[in-house]
Amino acid sequence: ASLDMSLLDGSVGVEDLVLLEPLVEESLLKNLQLRYENKEIYTYIGNVVISVNPYQQLPIYGPEFIASYRDCIFYELKPHIYALANVAYQSLRDRGRDQCILITGESGAGKTEASKLVMSYVAAVCGKGEQVNSVKEQLLQSNPVLEAFGNAKTIRNNNSSRFGKYMDIEFDFKGSPLGGVITNYLLEKSRVVKQLKGERNFHIFYQLLAGADAQLLKALKLERDAKSYAYLNQEVFRVDGVDDAASFQVVQNAMTVIGFSEKEIRQVLEVISLVLKLGNVEVADEYQANGIPASGIRDGTGIQEIGEMVGLSSGELERALCSRTMETAKEKVVTALNVIQAQYARDALAKNIYSRLFNWIVNRINESIKVGTGEKKVVMGVLDIYGFEILEDNSFEQFVINYCNEKLQQVFIEMTLKEEQEEYKREGIPWTKVDYFDNGIICNLIEHNQRGILAMLDEECLRPGVVSDSTFLAKLNQQFSKHGHYESKVTQNAQHQYDRTMGLSCFRICHYAGKVTYNVTNFIDKNNDLLFRDLSQTMWKAQHPLLRSLFPEGDPKQASLKRPPTAGAQFKSSVAILMKNLYSKNPNYIRCIKPNEHQQRGQFSSDLVATQARYLGLLENVRVRRAGYAHRQVYRSFLERYRLLSCSTWPRWNGGDREGVEKVLGELSLSSEELAFGKTKIFIRSPKTLFHLEEQRRLRLQQLATLIQKTYRGWRCRTHYQLMRKSQILISSWFRGNMQKKRYDKMKASALLIQAFVRGWKARKNYRKYFRSGAALTLANFIYKSIVQKFLLNLRDNLPSTNVLDNKWPVAPYKFLSTASQELRRLFHQWKCKKFRDQLSPKRIEILREKLCASELLKGKKASYPQSVPIPFHGDYIGLQGNPKLQKLKGMEERPVLMAETVRKVNRGNGKTSSRILLLTKGHVILTDTRKSQTKFVIGLDSVTGVSVTSLKDGLFILHLNEATMSVGSKGDLLLVSDHVVELLTKVYQAVLNATQRQLPVTVTDKFSVRFKESSVAVKVIQGPGGDEKSKLSCKKKGSHCLEVTVQ
Ligand SMILES: Nc1ncnc2c1ncn2[C@@H]1O[C@H](COP(=O)(O)OP(=O)(O)OP(=O)(O)O)[C@@H](O)[C@H]1O
Ligand SMILES: [Mg+2]
Repeated sequence: ASLDMSLLDGSVGVEDLVLLEPLVEESLLKNLQLRYENKEIYTYIGNVVISVNPYQQLPIYGPEFIASYRDCIFYELKPHIYALANVAYQSLRDRGRDQCILITGESGAGKTEASKLVMSYVAAVCGKGEQVNSVKEQLLQSNPVLEAFGNAKTIRNNNSSRFGKYMDIEFDFKGSPLGGVITNYLLEKSRVVKQLKGERNFHIFYQLLAGADAQLLKALKLERDAKSYAYLNQEVFRVDGVDDAASFQVVQNAMTVIGFSEKEIRQVLEVISLVLKLGNVEVADEYQANGIPASGIRDGTGIQEIGEMVGLSSGELERALCSRTMETAKEKVVTALNVIQAQYARDALAKNIYSRLFNWIVNRINESIKVGTGEKKVVMGVLDIYGFEILEDNSFEQFVINYCNEKLQQVFIEMTLKEEQEEYKREGIPWTKVDYFDNGIICNLIEHNQRGILAMLDEECLRPGVVSDSTFLAKLNQQFSKHGHYESKVTQNAQHQYDRTMGLSCFRICHYAGKVTYNVTNFIDKNNDLLFRDLSQTMWKAQHPLLRSLFPEGDPKQASLKRPPTAGAQFKSSVAILMKNLYSKNPNYIRCIKPNEHQQRGQFSSDLVATQARYLGLLENVRVRRAGYAHRQVYRSFLERYRLLSCSTWPRWNGGDREGVEKVLGELSLSSEELAFGKTKIFIRSPKTLFHLEEQRRLRLQQLATLIQKTYRGWRCRTHYQLMRKSQILISSWFRGNMQKKRYDKMKASALLIQAFVRGWKARKNYRKYFRSGAALTLANFIYKSIVQKFLLNLRDNLPSTNVLDNKWPVAPYKFLSTASQELRRLFHQWKCKKFRDQLSPKRIEILREKLCASELLKGKKASYPQSVPIPFHGDYIGLQGNPKLQKLKGMEERPVLMAETVRKVNRGNGKTSSRILLLTKGHVILTDTRKSQTKFVIGLDSVTGVSVTSLKDGLFILHLNEATMSVGSKGDLLLVSDHVVELLTKVYQAVLNATQRQLPVTVTDKFSVRFKESSVAVKVIQGPGGDEKSKLSCKKKGSHCLEVTVQ
């Protein structure tokens, strides 16, 4: 079978066996073992706590743990007795429900420890205050006292409770403890006189001997050595890890806290030492006169001491121990007891003293912690009863103890089922009945009022006639021959069974927890539990007040012949009361399990645990619990745990709890059989579904954790970033501010500096004129100015002649004025010229233009030019007006005639000259013969290509004509001599310019070439000797193509 041990988060195995899968014994044991090995000693079955004895101190107790369980919901923390105690206490306080906590388990399984945990938890969480604290202390301190007197080392348990204890703790409505009542059940008093091998007597004996100081010992007439006492096992005196002496102090202390007076404590110790001494009283054979065996005390000192201590004479004591008075209505008969009988009487006395002392102590505690009547109270009962016992030799005590456990099992079965059933009913869930083993039949076998074993035992005890254990057994055999849970040699024989383990004097009962074989020997005796009247009466006579009070029936006035109820009957009735008590309360179970037989930590014996699990009915318990619904939880806490699974309930849910649960589960699409909605709780049928939920929750938690992480990280980064940003802005603002401030300061300083300079400069400038050094300049300027002024004024008043030709100009009076004077002179000259030009008549202007033209053409080039300048141009040198002949000449149509002169024409052939009249019109040059008045040539000005003259004073000039003219009739260029050559050239030039917009080239040279017919003639001009006013020309032909002109 596979077992997934870690289905629930953080748990070792399953914390609640209800969730176990598969549900078989093997997996159950494995789960317990796994948990045990991981020091998880507590496991739930629903609200039942299973506790496996760890045999070591685990760090899971103490104030912090109490505090954490105090405010939690049952399933939230690991399983713990504290959780159970918390549930019980809260239900008691908040809902006023009486609670009982039932702690069951074998001897050594940890019941007493568990009960102490419950008590300490309740004490820690309930109210505070002086009154409350003292009650709490008293309740808690009752434990060491009861353990000292009622616990002993056995082979199973070093601190085995040898009595049953039920303690009611009573609270007021606020949950503060008021007090309590302790009920004790059947102390194992046989231990006082005899212990099994390896066991001890009750702790208090050893504690007293080890812990009492010498003075106390002396006063009690005790010896420290435990070996001196016959009632103390001569083999075992110490228990490992237990300091008896220290415990003695603790016990005394506890008694004081509870309210025992010094005197009372002393008396208790005296009674204890009395029991010890009683054991040392030796009885010896004696014979009466008639030879009948009798007995007597062998050593007188022991009995003497006892007598002194309790205030009895040793004679009285000896009589009480060694004889018996039979009383009938008429007479008293005293019979001597033999040694066996006397020893029996002595032991009976010791056992009785001790068990009565124990009862007295319990009552005394109750007196201290009892609550005044009339107060309204709620009760929490804690039952720590001796566990189911199977010894090698089981006697009446085991029978009674096992009966008690059988009853408790019945309570458990009924209440568990009943509770379950009621819960379904309350919640309105349909319930199907589950079968379980009902041990009612075994209870009946033991306790039936007429036909039960206890009833038959009582019957045997009361029956007149010969009564013995074997008659009792025979009766049982007869009665239960057919009973399924009863066996004996006889019934076996009847069924032809052979069983070696079954003794003749034994019967066997099939208890819920296993078969137990009881030996009937002493059953009658123990049930009768009779103390010879002699003993009780003697004890009552004792001076010792405590001892005396233990034996009230010894008072003759109280004496009645009516038998006290038998031990069995007493026990039965007290169990019945207990059952009634338990049924009236809300049960909480702690089921203790013993992991091994050796009181060893860490050892887990599967077989041993399996047996216990079986008889505790753990598996059935789980089944019953699961038959209906494996898991249930009130809506609120369920919603708290699982609401994170649905978006509509997480993170906030405003609706009702039930609606919330429906929402969550609705979204998970679980099958409808799996769920049932009760009135206050949600029920889940199979553990698988719960695991599914848990798994979903686990996954969701991871998601949420991631989400939280994410959000947190984001937040952290954001805040960090924002801080950084803020800081950065702050820094940069400071920095910028600072920078700007610096810049501003610098600018300001600079501005100030500049201002200072400017102002300084201005000031200096302003002021400079007041400097002495500036005075010279000012003066000089002033003088300059006045000089200039004077000069200019003077010039104005004495302007030179306005005649253009008069170039006179006054000399500048100072050198520095010479440039200005020159400039003024130039201006003045231009002004004069302008003035002159303006007053000229147009005709005059025309004349002067012509003169200007002449000057431009020939000035500086021709030697005759300067002579021509003062001579005005006449134009008409031949009296054209008065010559009508000339006017009719061909080509004269054009008017006016610009020039009319008589020129000489040089013949190019021979150098001879002939006179001709030259007429210049706007468009033509006309040459005529002076005599014949015939036109020789008419040349268009456009045909004139150039004019050449010599540089000398002569009047020779050449008209160069173009080729087109030659074809007209001309024989080539014209070589002419004029007296007014300057004027003529100027006019020809101007006429050509006006007519053709051409600038006629005028060449001044002394060597020309003249085209003549088809060839050309070179003309060379030579300056002859003499140079008169009137120059004379002479031309000589030199060769065919050369003409030499000499100018004289
Ligand atoms: N929770 C625990 N933590 C540590 N040790 C424990 C615990 N429970 C029990 N023990 C040990 O086991 C021993 C036996 O326990 P306890 O006396 O409670 O058993 P019991 O069930 O009362 O037995 P009996 O029926 O004999 O009285 C204790 O003395 C203690 O040493
Ligand atoms: Mg115990």
